[in-house]
Amino acid sequence: MARILVTGGTGYIGSHTVVELMQHGHEVVIVDNLSNSNKEMLDGIAAVVGKRPDFEQVDCNDISAMCDVMNHYTDIEAVIHFAASKAVGESVEQPLMYYRNNLMSLVTLLEQMKAHNVHNIVFSSSCTVYGQPSSEHLPVDEKAPIQVALSPYGNTKQINEEIIRDEAYANAALHATILRYFNPIGAHPTAMIGELPNGVPNNLLPFVTQTAAGVRRQLKVYGDDYNTPDGSCIRDYIYVVDLAKAHVKAVERMLSGKTEEQVEVFNLGTGRGLSVLEILRTFIQVTGVDVPYEIVGRREGDIEQVWAKPDKANNVLGWKADTPIEDVLLSAWNWEKKLRGIE
Ligand code: UD1
Repeated sequence: MARILVTGGTGYIGSHTVVELMQHGHEVVIVDNLSNSNKEMLDGIAAVVGKRPDFEQVDCNDISAMCDVMNHYTDIEAVIHFAASKAVGESVEQPLMYYRNNLMSLVTLLEQMKAHNVHNIVFSSSCTVYGQPSSEHLPVDEKAPIQVALSPYGNTKQINEEIIRDEAYANAALHATILRYFNPIGAHPTAMIGELPNGVPNNLLPFVTQTAAGVRRQLKVYGDDYNTPDGSCIRDYIYVVDLAKAHVKAVERMLSGKTEEQVEVFNLGTGRGLSVLEILRTFIQVTGVDVPYEIVGRREGDIEQVWAKPDKANNVLGWKADTPIEDVLLSAWNWEKKLRGIE
């Protein structure tokens, strides 16, 4: 049992991770500026767990406020750093905001960790660091080459990883686990917490569920002329609850001193690639709800196909993403129905 600081803990992946941490007996303090999340998520977490996590509405860029948090919670043993801006398109339009939010927050956090003798960090990275892997690197393992980022957002993830490596090199006490997520989807089975996209969703699943709920008229499928079996893009869609559980494994591994390298990297995916059209068909099949869609042109910057080789996470972390895609898609629909008051 340990006290964990979770930045971005009211966000989508953060809230699911807080639930899993608390259900494993850990004490959590969430730091979130609520820039892309809602305080009501704390009620959802409390409804699932039966207990409220500590919460501080603080921006991770705010040096003195972060110092205050660390001074107040003197028992923090590890940090999980989710807080970040994450919209690819927005990052192209407002790169400086992305560099400020995503880079300065990590620098501030690492400084405060060092000043307060907190030596363990789990960092939310992304498979975006691999770009489009060449065919010999599919499925992607952790040794696949990092490629030039296609967006400022992707670049912040790469630079964040470098910041962590550089600091670990300079500071032998620091231990870091970098988790590279593939495509997280779905919601908690209780439908008490889930994704709350801001405005028109950019990601596939929220757009699908909103279209099914009648909030959006029609889904646009971005391209059916890719070099894939049905022509639509392929991704590794991972259940957000499975993903959350990987964070518990990662933190507990660090706290038990079992890590073999000062900076460990894990790809978190299912090992299975699914196309946009497969997701759509399966969603319609398991929910029985129609989703009107049209095929349109490719989306700029989209990667054709990427899916994980999760063997390292399976073997070393002792973790596996094994929730069937049907259950995952149903959980996403149940959450959307709850949000919209359907049924
Ligand atoms: C990308 C990044 C991911 C990042 C995420 C943040 C890659 C491989 N992935 O995810 O690291 O964290 O952005 O948002 O770079 N699609 C449609 N119609 C839609 C929406 C999406 O057809 O309305 C398709 C896309 O073309 C894509 C798939 O659905 O093929 C998944 O798209 P999305 O959910 O946006 O995730 P990525 O672009 O894979």
